[in-house]
Amino acid sequence: GWRSVVRGVGAYLPERCVTNTELARTVDTTDEWILQRTGITRRYFAAPGETTSQLATAAARAALDEAGCLPADIDLIIVATATPDYTFPATATQVQAALGITAGVAFDLQAVCSGFVFALATADKFLRSGSHRRALVIGAETFSRLLDWSDRTTCVLFGDGAGAVVLEARPGRDPLHEGGIVTTHLRSDGRGREKLFVDGGPSTTGTTGHLRMEGRDVFRHAVGNVTDVVVDAFSAAGIGPDDLDWFVPHQANRRIIDASAAKLGIHPDKVVTTVHLHANTSAASVPLALSVACGDGRIRPGQLVMLEAVGGGFTWGSALLRW
Ligand code: ACO
Repeated sequence: GWRSVVRGVGAYLPERCVTNTELARTVDTTDEWILQRTGITRRYFAAPGETTSQLATAAARAALDEAGCLPADIDLIIVATATPDYTFPATATQVQAALGITAGVAFDLQAVCSGFVFALATADKFLRSGSHRRALVIGAETFSRLLDWSDRTTCVLFGDGAGAVVLEARPGRDPLHEGGIVTTHLRSDGRGREKLFVDGGPSTTGTTGHLRMEGRDVFRHAVGNVTDVVVDAFSAAGIGPDDLDWFVPHQANRRIIDASAAKLGIHPDKVVTTVHLHANTSAASVPLALSVACGDGRIRPGQLVMLEAVGGGFTWGSALLRW
């Protein structure tokens, strides 16, 4: 048997940083409102012409460096994104070409803010099956291109960025003790579409469209319903909240993160929060948070880490890893 081990983590944020105060010059909002409701202090926006695949490629290079891997070592690339460079081809193939990789397979996965956790679960199943050896799992977004700047209830919440991990198949059947992805749990429910969606697309309007959200309903769903996938992970692994070293949830909103952790009985000291640093970057948020917490020495080899995410669809999922 095989298990999937994380060998490296990398991230990339565009150069342009926009604080709440700067945003308040063009949007009818205040630093106080944004900070109090969401915990966000700033976000990064891609430069004109800077694309999702470019952010993804930068994050992938950082992850490859940390893993000590060459692009040629990679035989699977999954890019989770809701903001692809083009309707087709897949952003993942653009990343593959930019890295000079000509072997293996590259494809996109669309689960909005849950995309990275869905991509990690998918890559894990490829590696466990023995069909592939080394994967780049990337979450990358340019949500700034989807925002309606006349809607202050949504445009203050999001930013651009990318994060990536290198996953490697190693022999073994017991990731809980030997290291690797222990268990993944994914869910979706299409009845939630109208709560969080983009009002355009190739087969509806023929336009890109803008992000639309019923903030309060999304909040209620995120705290009320999505913790089930973490509970599923606990029971599949035979562990409880006290066994975790770190909880790394989707970085949408500080209040959602705090309420979810409290509901799950996870101690606040074990929660990794980075939403204040870069706002909600959708599929990039979990690997960005991982990159921060690995970089500052919080997440260390041997520790037990629970990832969780929720996004449009609705989609939601968890991944438990022995780091
Ligand atoms: N600046 C100033 N005032 C604002 C802003 C703003 N940017 N946006 C809304 N307001 C005003 C409203 O107009 C309203 O004014 P009123 O009372 O005079 O009508 C007031 O603030 C309160 O608005 P609410 O919508 O009730 O504010 P709420 O406390 O619900 O917070 C928020 C809004 C932050 C969006 C909250 O609902 C939330 O966190 N929802 C979760 C949404 C989320 O994080 N989604 C992320 C995407 S989903 C995902 O990633 C899974």
